Amino acid sequence: MNILLTGGAGYIGSHTAVVLAQAGHRVVLYDNYSNSKPTVVQRLQNILGEPLKAIEGDVRDTELLTSVLKEEQIDAVIHFAGLKAVGESSQKPIAYYSANVQGAISLLQAMERAQIYRIVFSSSACVYGDPQYLPIDEAHPTVPTNPYGRNKLQIEQLLQDVAQSDVGKQARWQIANLRYFNPVGAHVSGLIGEDPQGIPNNLMPFVAQVAVGKLPQLQVFGNDYPTPDGTGVRDYIHVMDLAQGHLAALDYLNEHYGFNTFNLGTGQGYSVLQMVHAFERASGNTIAYQIQGRRAGDIASCYAKADKALQELHWHTERNLEDMCASAWKWQTYCNSLGAN
Ligand code: NAD
Ligand code: UFG
Repeated sequence: MNILLTGGAGYIGSHTAVVLAQAGHRVVLYDNYSNSKPTVVQRLQNILGEPLKAIEGDVRDTELLTSVLKEEQIDAVIHFAGLKAVGESSQKPIAYYSANVQGAISLLQAMERAQIYRIVFSSSACVYGDPQYLPIDEAHPTVPTNPYGRNKLQIEQLLQDVAQSDVGKQARWQIANLRYFNPVGAHVSGLIGEDPQGIPNNLMPFVAQVAVGKLPQLQVFGNDYPTPDGTGVRDYIHVMDLAQGHLAALDYLNEHYGFNTFNLGTGQGYSVLQMVHAFERASGNTIAYQIQGRRAGDIASCYAKADKALQELHWHTERNLEDMCASAWKWQTYCNSLGAN
């Protein structure tokens, strides 16, 4: 298949590009490089050993998207593009609604014009809000607690309505809605990975930068949660396992119509301190940390029930915590050698 990856130069998109290309698909990246760099394309080509097409553009440019979809004879779209920093979404809601919600509307308009009806959407565990029970299954209520989470939920509702518009007619829309838990790690080559701008907000890139000596110490946000060691528990998923989940979702859509939601997580939670110690083992370096008060908006624990993806997508995670830390460390040392992040 010919597959367009919006936001394909970003963290999850670039890893998914490798998996799809290695599975025999032709991948086209479409990105405005607002949170990535064009240099990732060369590094992807080095991993793949073949040319990769990348187009610079904004998802809100419906005209450009429509012509790309037609000219590249795209069969399916994976929609990664958007803004993703939870805290920033409260500071810049208009930018978030524009990139995320307006971006999704523009993409669907372009797809309809080009008569392409197959899409995989990057949603987030953020749509669930504070867990009412654990593990979180797909039927858990959706009560997002910040503008970013509300953007994701609104796009999900838009996609549901789009699928619903087929009812009573010949079905056209094939939609996989993937709710990611906490993606971490990097490709085994160490040539691509998460490259946050400025000081990282998320735990793993922060820990990696402490391990490499770029940041002095980690602030652990709270050790008084009702968890085994008091620090927050999350469902960390290796980005290559997540990337494989997109391939499985595309395969699923070969035979399924309508709107289909799947959690992509491991089902296993790790605490902040467990992550710190695993990273110390992977890097061989001590990670200095200091316990701080809780971060506003954080929850104690969040982890997935991932049975639906196993049963229906025939997908499960294959990489463990050691793989996540070892690959993230390889990527961090590569970045450091370039002075890149
Ligand atoms: P990322 O920022 O690394 O990648 C997103 C890419 O989209 C970037 O390359 C950016 O330049 C591009 N982009 C942003 N706005 C655009 C626009 N208007 N037009 C075209 N390109 C645009 O983020 P990521 O971690 O790879 O996340 C990919 C998707 O997965 C996002 O939709 C994100 O919300 C979602 N997600 C991420 C996480 C996570 O923790 N990383 C968790 C759940 C969901
Ligand atoms: N944490 C620290 N110190 C830090 C950063 C994080 O102690 O410097 C802790 C947090 O308090 C939390 C855990 O590490 O307990 C994970 O925090 P992250 O910021 O890495 O991840 P979140 O679970 O808060 O959120 C992430 C993404 C969201 C996504 C969500 C999906 O940022 O976009 O995972 O579960 F929606």
